[in-house]
Amino acid sequence: MKPDFRTIILILLAVLFAGQVYAQDRPTVYILATGGTIAGESQTAVTAGYKAGAVGIDQLLAAVPQLSDLADVRGEQVVNIGSQDMNDAVWLTLAARVNELLDEDETAGIVITHGTDTMEETAYFLNLTVKSSKPVILVGSMRPSTAISADGPRNIYNAVACAVSPLSTGRGVMVVMNDRILGADDLAKTHTLDVGTFQDPNYGQLGIVYDGKPIYARESVKRHTVHSEFDVRGLDRLPRVEIVVSYSNATPLFVDSAVEAGARGIVVAGVGNGNMTTAMQDALAAAHREMGIAVVRSSRIMQGPTAQWDEVDDDALGFAASWYINPYRSRVLLMLALTRTTDYREIQRMFQEY
Ligand code: DGL
Repeated sequence: MKPDFRTIILILLAVLFAGQVYAQDRPTVYILATGGTIAGESQTAVTAGYKAGAVGIDQLLAAVPQLSDLADVRGEQVVNIGSQDMNDAVWLTLAARVNELLDEDETAGIVITHGTDTMEETAYFLNLTVKSSKPVILVGSMRPSTAISADGPRNIYNAVACAVSPLSTGRGVMVVMNDRILGADDLAKTHTLDVGTFQDPNYGQLGIVYDGKPIYARESVKRHTVHSEFDVRGLDRLPRVEIVVSYSNATPLFVDSAVEAGARGIVVAGVGNGNMTTAMQDALAAAHREMGIAVVRSSRIMQGPTAQWDEVDDDALGFAASWYINPYRSRVLLMLALTRTTDYREIQRMFQEY
């Protein structure tokens, strides 16, 4: 006997209701897409060449149907760029949207797909400007979405698995790639091509994702998110900070250029413990003394702190030392510091606390 129309409607309503209940049971996770290799498209599945930011968020999510077992996943395309072109405007847009979404009770966490080239900078910027303890996880890939053994789908699955876990609350912004969980406060891309490129070279990784679940081994002792004094909500621009590198025979050429370009802060990627040529140091000291430009000494060396009280007399010059913060994250922190102070002693405090 064929079911009558009324029975069919009742069945459809029951299925719809069950679906709603199921969706409500699952935590809501937003995936904000910005581009990168994870959204890359190669000519063939085996060639090296590809275009970053070629695939949209819907295609990325369609490649990981298992996400529906973890969460009610909602995708938004913020931009679709190679992260070598990441910029202040996208950072401010991301910070605003992340804070807006995390203010909503239903949002359990946020995943951001991003290129790996500047992921350590964006992750640190958000680590200092997100005003929530809910998980914010950045994820990328080293192989394009069209490659054999593309690492993106697994990385996205692992990132969402971390974003829905209560164990991820209050840990600051994190990066999940290659089954590793890394802290934004020490993140570094350490290999140009390897899928295991990201490490926390000084503090060590936060944990691993195993069997689709986060297993944490340590937590950050640095200030972040709700414990951060920085707030970019309402800002439409950030102070300009440039990085200059020291090396054998380095001249003040790029210091002078940064000053002329209107930089309000300069980070030195110095040699050794944040040292530089005397000519460069004299130019930086003059920039600080005569124009109030903030100067932070960091190092081109990946491990170890750029420490105070060594060869450079920071107090005499009005410089701050970056301690464990590499030049690229030092630029981020100095940009945010300059939204609050130009006092080098206050800036030094910030480089010890964040
Ligand atoms: N164009 C680079 C970027 O978007 C590719 C690197 C990657 O995402 O792995 O950062």
